[in-house]
Amino acid sequence: MPRGGIDDIAGRTVLIYSRIAGTGSYLPEKIVTNADLEKVVDTTDEWISSRTGIRERRRAADGETTGDLAFYAATHALEAAGVKASEIDLIVLGTTTPDIIFPSTACLLQHRLGANGCAAFDVNAACSGFMYALGVADQFIRSGQVKKALVVGSETLSRMLDWSDRSTCVLFGDGAGAVVLEASNEPGILTTKLHADGAYKHLLYNPVGVSAGFNEQEPNHGIRVMMTGNEVFKVAVKTLDRIVGETLEAAGMHESDVDWLIPHQANLRIIEATAKRLKLSMDRVIVTVDRHGNTSSGSVPLALDEAVRSGKVQRGQTLLLEAFGGGFTWSSALLKY
Ligand code: UT7
Repeated sequence: MPRGGIDDIAGRTVLIYSRIAGTGSYLPEKIVTNADLEKVVDTTDEWISSRTGIRERRRAADGETTGDLAFYAATHALEAAGVKASEIDLIVLGTTTPDIIFPSTACLLQHRLGANGCAAFDVNAACSGFMYALGVADQFIRSGQVKKALVVGSETLSRMLDWSDRSTCVLFGDGAGAVVLEASNEPGILTTKLHADGAYKHLLYNPVGVSAGFNEQEPNHGIRVMMTGNEVFKVAVKTLDRIVGETLEAAGMHESDVDWLIPHQANLRIIEATAKRLKLSMDRVIVTVDRHGNTSSGSVPLALDEAVRSGKVQRGQTLLLEAFGGGFTWSSALLKY
């Protein structure tokens, strides 16, 4: 089993794991149902729920930003961990919808929490943003550089949607989740896997940006999610199937060792395919896509927090987290909670 370790002053190897000390999440108040979307685009509740499993999603209020969502989720995670913001050594925040171009949303969050001085940065890995952030923070803790890290996934995807495009606007929602990681001698995160293949950019992307330029002629300056959904679907199912095997093998574990699958919440049919690959019945899978939609980087930590707070996930259980998103990026973590 791969483990972190540093040498102590006597030259002995001291094993270090990063362990989840607390989780938190936040959803904006406004609920947007499929019926609401029937009034906006040519769609039906039947189409959305049968193809995706989504029944409703949240939408941030005017003026409510990714940083606001991150702040509430982080505050809940710190409370749950019994850790003060001033004790945090590192903040890594996954997002594709930062408040402003710079400073990073992680820096804005750091100041608002009162954790000034620690390292803080954003990770953009689309829907894998939180999982990438978790993998990075785990490495900092295992190397002995950091004792306590705050890892956040936060998004206001509603701000980058084309509300006249029925093939994308019905899929996404706003939300945030967070975990506090602590260095521990007890097993926590056992392994993380991070991958990307930029050759698939054309299947899922946002076409404009600071350097490439914005399109003044288009609504929202051309900022929108472009997705060839059915192609993304096929690659997502195959790729998640592969990474699940790779992750278990790296940790020397088997499908039957997994207590809970906590997957990225993009489409119930993709989640069911991964559960089948793991031979897990759906009552061992955390599903929030029906109520949250796809919250990109927010999705996995939101599902994790909900599972912890509902009492489903218990200390000592083995969790498999995974995500897939634009890039393409794909990622996983196997951990003892
Ligand atoms: O989180 C990042 C990763 N993203 C994903 O994992 C998303 C992966 N993809 C998917 O979840 C699914 O492909 C979608 C939910 C996006 C689409 O479902 P699908 O079963 O693959 O549908 P499709 O794209 O093949 O479209 C089928 C039909 C089309 O009509 P025609 O050409 O057959 O007449 C679409 O125009 O459904 C139509 N359609 C809609 N109809 C009603 C597309 N969007 C809608 C809609 N309402 N909202």
